[in-house]
Amino acid sequence: MRTAAVPLTHLEANVRVCPVKRNAPRAWFMNGMAPFSFFNAVGSDPVYLVVSVGVRDGGAPKDTATNIRRNREFVVNLVTEELLAAMNVSAADFPPNLGELDAAGLHAAPSARISAPRLAEAQVSMECRLFESLPLGENTLFVGEVVMFHVADHLLGPRLRINHFAPVGRMRSPSMYCRTTDRFELGRISYPEWRKRREGD
Ligand SMILES: Cc1cc2nc3c(=O)[nH]c(=O)nc-3n(C[C@H](O)[C@H](O)[C@H](O)COP(=O)(O)O)c2cc1C
Repeated sequence: MRTAAVPLTHLEANVRVCPVKRNAPRAWFMNGMAPFSFFNAVGSDPVYLVVSVGVRDGGAPKDTATNIRRNREFVVNLVTEELLAAMNVSAADFPPNLGELDAAGLHAAPSARISAPRLAEAQVSMECRLFESLPLGENTLFVGEVVMFHVADHLLGPRLRINHFAPVGRMRSPSMYCRTTDRFELGRISYPEWRKRREGD
């Protein structure tokens, strides 16, 4: 699949309207390659995202958290429907000598601005530099500044072409998921419009 590396200034507005942020899609990290549901976009200029990483049973840190702390950079890859099976494989508890990427039949591709690789098969990947980390009980909230988007060609246009974009979310742990294909538009109204409608009642 061909993807384009898009400088932030080009895509920022598209990403802001991207529905996946509202649906808390699961994100995939290349550092350790694990799926994460506690993830969202939280800033638009520059673009920031957050992910919350817990600890293992017994309290040891997860590899993802260790790697983000050490490298101060990471890649978030959005999980779309055709990647669900591979995502599920990557979530298994593999021994250290067996990489999740190989096991899931996936491949790494070089990033443009950071050294952490991205997922070649992902339709959208975001290269991030660690901006801040905040302990939240057992979890740590990592705030990443997105320094580069990688977006599949078929999604690129004046605005993100969402018709062929099918990110998934998790509804409930451990294994209930949702699609994001039931879409609709709800026009915004101004205060004068709201008043006019009310007076018309
Ligand atoms: C769909 C899904 C979503 C998950 N979301 C999170 C999450 O938001 N935070 C978290 O700490 N672990 C989450 N997990 C569990 C991690 O993926 C799991 O602990 C993984 O083994 C961590 O790998 P690592 O040690 O390479 O970081 C999730 C697992 C699945 C299957």
